[in-house]
Amino acid sequence: MTDQAVDAYDPLASVGGAADRPQPRIRLAAPVMGDEEMDAVREVLASGILTNGPATRRFEAAMAQRHGTEFAVAMANGTVGLAAMYLAAGIGPGDEVIVPSLTFIGTATAVCHVGATPVFADILPDTFTLDPSDVVRRITDRTRAIVPVHYAGQAADLASLRRIADDAGVALLEDAAQAHGATYRDRPVGSWGDSAMFSFTPTKNITTGEGAVITTDDEKTAHDLRLLRNHGMSKQYHHEILGYNWRITEMQAAIGAVQLGRLDGILATKRANAVVLDDLLAKVPGAVSPVAAEDRDHPYLFYTVLVPADRREDVAAALDDARIEHRRYFPPIHRQPIFSHMDDPVLPVTEDVFSRAVSVPFHSKLSHADLADIAAAIAAGLS
Ligand SMILES: Cc1ncc(COP(=O)(O)O)c(C=O)c1O
Repeated sequence: MTDQAVDAYDPLASVGGAADRPQPRIRLAAPVMGDEEMDAVREVLASGILTNGPATRRFEAAMAQRHGTEFAVAMANGTVGLAAMYLAAGIGPGDEVIVPSLTFIGTATAVCHVGATPVFADILPDTFTLDPSDVVRRITDRTRAIVPVHYAGQAADLASLRRIADDAGVALLEDAAQAHGATYRDRPVGSWGDSAMFSFTPTKNITTGEGAVITTDDEKTAHDLRLLRNHGMSKQYHHEILGYNWRITEMQAAIGAVQLGRLDGILATKRANAVVLDDLLAKVPGAVSPVAAEDRDHPYLFYTVLVPADRREDVAAALDDARIEHRRYFPPIHRQPIFSHMDDPVLPVTEDVFSRAVSVPFHSKLSHADLADIAAAIAAGLS
């Protein structure tokens, strides 16, 4: 592979498809950025404090308040944020961490980065989040944490998983990368786990380009996270623990604070659009809209439609023909080459969902005409 191919990362780009295919007309994501973000960055640049300063503190305080926790610690990105969260929970070599497989690779690779072993558990067929009964089956005396991923931002079954983690004496660490502003039984995600990580890449409902925030109620965890992100330094050139440079820049943090102010508006738009697309797809035989559980507020980071497995490629082709970007969220990560040395964890629901899933654009700038075009393309693929 060329260096160019290795470096190629278009967080908004489609996967698959011919290289000569025209640019999509409806993209998967469309960050909302305005004068307020530009002004915030200008202010930081003029201040001369570009990292580890007041904008980071403000962003952290706003995230803690929004997600109902005592503390929040910002990080350079979600993947190192997860590694920091795992390290702060005392996870290391010899330990096992239970994760879903229908997730972004970082959920599991960060477990490997700290020297521990991911153990894959199956998901529920409605919310595509960790199946508590399968989690119980996979707990061993080496298990140190359960890591629910809130799929498309919709909370996992946090009450059951909290109880299972407490009974087993292990940590509950939320991978809330996709879940800004989501709730479970009227309580924000991010406040159910011992700690929780939110990512801010450009496909998220709110973004700082790169970046992450970890929320927690535990003062020691927050302290350790701050040490880990800044070379283990408790005072200038005094290094208490093995640390890293996992800091966020002040420019990103300033953007993040503004973006957080936009979150409710973005979520309201998306929830209204979900009603529209659900209604359109209800008239398309063979298409199944995402399930929104009654005890959760779904932030619809993405919108995954299930279609019959043997028609999935037809639907993908119809979306391509209509120049509507689409993805498979997510190719099961236990099937990735890096995990090929592991025993097959046997995840029938994960495999079934993957074989039927098509995720379509669902950003907050879609018009009703866009939503109608998406539904029409799915209908064409299934006709
Ligand atoms: C569930 C999940 N975990 C972890 C990550 C990694 O976050 P980042 O891309 O900020 O490193 C992502 C990113 O999309 C994600 O969706």
